[in-house]
Amino acid sequence: MKLTPALIEILGQDISLTKPEYLAFPVYNPSNGKVLAYVREQGEAETKAAVDAAHKAFQAWAKKTAKERATVLKHWNHLLMAHQADLGLLVALEQGRAITEARGEVAYAAGFIEWFAEEGKRSYGRTIPAVAEDKQLVTIRQPIGVVGAITPWNFPLSMLTRKLGPALAAGCTAVVKPSEETPLCAIALKNLALKAGVPEGVIGLITTTKAKPVGDVLTSDERVKKFSFTGSTPVGKGLYAQCAGTVKKISLELGGNAPLVVFDDADLDIAVPAAILSKFRNSGQTCVCANRLLVQAGIYDRFVERFTEAASKLKVALGWDESSGIGALINQKAIDKVERLVADAVAKGATVRLGGTVAQSVGDLFYPATVLSDCTRDMTLFDEEIFGPVAAIYKFESEDDGISLANDTPFGLAAYLFTQDLSRAWRVGAQLEAGMIGVNDGVMSTEVAPFGGIKESGIGREGAVEGLEEYTEIKYLSFAGIGG
Ligand code: SIN
Repeated sequence: MKLTPALIEILGQDISLTKPEYLAFPVYNPSNGKVLAYVREQGEAETKAAVDAAHKAFQAWAKKTAKERATVLKHWNHLLMAHQADLGLLVALEQGRAITEARGEVAYAAGFIEWFAEEGKRSYGRTIPAVAEDKQLVTIRQPIGVVGAITPWNFPLSMLTRKLGPALAAGCTAVVKPSEETPLCAIALKNLALKAGVPEGVIGLITTTKAKPVGDVLTSDERVKKFSFTGSTPVGKGLYAQCAGTVKKISLELGGNAPLVVFDDADLDIAVPAAILSKFRNSGQTCVCANRLLVQAGIYDRFVERFTEAASKLKVALGWDESSGIGALINQKAIDKVERLVADAVAKGATVRLGGTVAQSVGDLFYPATVLSDCTRDMTLFDEEIFGPVAAIYKFESEDDGISLANDTPFGLAAYLFTQDLSRAWRVGAQLEAGMIGVNDGVMSTEVAPFGGIKESGIGREGAVEGLEEYTEIKYLSFAGIGG
């Protein structure tokens, strides 16, 4: 499967189907290893030029009314949804994702644009009761300025719109660097933004295989006032340190190690499908995927049996096959990691209930839904983010044991708990150390709620009103001598 004429038209001059004269790098289809297209290799000079352009464009974009910006953003949202089938196919081709989920990724991405287009109109300040008769005190929210952003491959559209939606709605401009694995989705997004009326310079897009010089500019240029990163914790820590030099406002959405805790009183008709969704969404390649399934002793055997049966129904197939439930992993490194973690777990006593080896008949990068039971604390996959379709199931005895096992990690992005007992749901939800808690819920992600982590999983929130505030500064105005 190749890029369709519709996609080639959307991608326009920013891609070449044959190796071009200019400096470019190939973008591969992970499902079959074939080159989809070539895109420009950009570096420090292009990033600086994009920051110049964004800095210049900021003056006019910030001056527009929220309603004017909303009109453009809504047009962008409509274009994204009008091209949902094309863009879904692009996600399947470039990222390997199963097509039904890939179309969902388009809707998820467009949702951020739509929601923030409206919310930009509600970027309110406050009036504050004054301390003197002749004073009036108010706060206003202003766009922070040029935003620098670096995004991952696993949600190649929505991780960009989760930043660009609020940034543009607030009146900011941005320079973004998408993953080298998925630049085509970013190009499509930008071209549709231009078509919708987003002015030149408001979104700068840097495609590159050399992240360091680009990241260096985005984290050190004093005109970049806000930096937002979604990716791994080690990389995020380095970027955080680099931002200190110019004291940038920062958002970091980093790694997770989500516990999914199933108590004896859980309803398995709810817990099993939710756990399947949480674990196998995007073939296990999300930072909120259940990384550790912690199941109480009294329900353990029944859960393992029903979960394994449900997982066995997920078909491993090429992303663009309508029946695909598990698509290709992103690259060989991802396969190597999954194989290393499964081998370690098996060597330490895990039982393979399902899967456990590469699905070679489909392709080199296809790993089937895999279920490991009898997992224990000493296994490497307890501590490492698996980022693949491997469910590791552990047994615990008491509620306190379950909570302490769940919290036994430096990460704190998402956690899930399953129980029928409302008191327990509240009690455990309050004690689990994570920024987002799913109570009998396996997928919490939505543009209308704040997404983000605590501990080493990050700083700041994306989505919802909190996500808009990340792109504004509060200014306090004290008016004196104006009477009481
Ligand atoms: C991520 O994996 O970084 C994002 C997942 C989501 O938005 O649900």
